[in-house]
Amino acid sequence: MKRALLELSSMKSLLENLLKYMEEGVFTVDKDGKITSFNKSAQWITGYCLDEVIGKKCSDVFKSNLCNNTCPLSKVFKVDAPVYNHNVEFLSKDGKKILANLVCIQFKNAKGEILGAVNIFQDITEIKKLQHQLLQSEKLAIMGQISAGVAHEINNPISGILTYFSLIKKKIDKEKLSTEEIKKIHEYIVTMERETSRISRIVRNLLDFSRKKEPDFQPLNLTTVLENTISLLYDQIALMNIKVEKKIEKDIPEIIGDFGQLQQVFMNLILNAIQSMEQGGTLTLKISKVGKTGGGCFVIAEVKDTGRGIKDENLSKIFEPFFSTKKGEKGMGLGLGLAIVQRIIKDHRGSISIKTKLGKGTSFMIKLPAR
Ligand SMILES: Nc1ncnc2c1ncn2[C@@H]1O[C@H](COP(=O)(O)OP(=O)(O)OP(=O)(O)O)[C@@H](O)[C@H]1O
Ligand SMILES: [Mg+2]
Repeated sequence: MKRALLELSSMKSLLENLLKYMEEGVFTVDKDGKITSFNKSAQWITGYCLDEVIGKKCSDVFKSNLCNNTCPLSKVFKVDAPVYNHNVEFLSKDGKKILANLVCIQFKNAKGEILGAVNIFQDITEIKKLQHQLLQSEKLAIMGQISAGVAHEINNPISGILTYFSLIKKKIDKEKLSTEEIKKIHEYIVTMERETSRISRIVRNLLDFSRKKEPDFQPLNLTTVLENTISLLYDQIALMNIKVEKKIEKDIPEIIGDFGQLQQVFMNLILNAIQSMEQGGTLTLKISKVGKTGGGCFVIAEVKDTGRGIKDENLSKIFEPFFSTKKGEKGMGLGLGLAIVQRIIKDHRGSISIKTKLGKGTSFMIKLPAR
């Protein structure tokens, strides 16, 4: 008996110290929701002293968003839900808004009767604020990187155009132009036109990339999106001596997605595949599912080519904005296609994987959650 008492008293002091020095606010309530204890941290966080809260209903002290809708106590007083964990917002004594993570635990006696609840809460207002600031500064850093890239990308064609302007000006300042000179001027204008349309493409793609529009998510069939996209590209494919093979599984479940954006994904992947097969080849388009018929949980779209493949050292860079190995080729290749694909797939909670072999071909697989 003596030993038991001794153990009990040391346990009591341990608990008291724990409650006194822990950073989390802790308070207990009885079955009526009246506060029976309130530790030091709870007092610091809320601004209430012990005697101001003891015996008061907790909903009168914590004017919280949870009190009206889903009181955590009403939840944990049910036998089948002994713990409730939620982020809550409440007002401190001086009216300051506090965001906290609250864990509410059912509290029983030895006979199993519910006596009340223990509530442990942590002030996460600062953490949330810092997370928000971090996100903002990350966004700014990305914007900085992108603007530097854009400035560089746009500066080159503009310098070219300006040079041609002055060349043309020099020529037409003369009284009479020879046929040879008129031909040269024509050449300059064609180059200027090409460079201007490159700028316009950069700007258009950047607008897509920074995407002012919010996605319009609707239930849709990925096969329809793919069929729709490939129909826009048939002429180009035929010209390049490319064979198209389609492997579409039956009973593909619907997904939730933005039709236009997913069309953009396929457009970019198919264009890349086509551009990698200059000597012709086979483009395989596959739609399959993971999971049982009717209950598939993922839909997988694959765009596979028998083209030049991707070098190991480039694999980690291909999703970076402005990374392109096609810059020398007829003014093509902004290096924005895959950056846009990655952004869209992320918004759709999907993932991208790649298989590639130099000289043999590449396969891009997009995995999207089924509806
Ligand atoms: N199917 C593919 N086969 C081989 N290389 C590829 C393939 N897809 C992408 N790549 C490589 O990844 C790079 C980046 O692709 P991305 O689509 O982002 O830009 P791009 O095609 O060069 O230009 P843009 O799409 O903006 O016109 C390409 O330049 C190419 O080197
Ligand atoms: Mg591309």
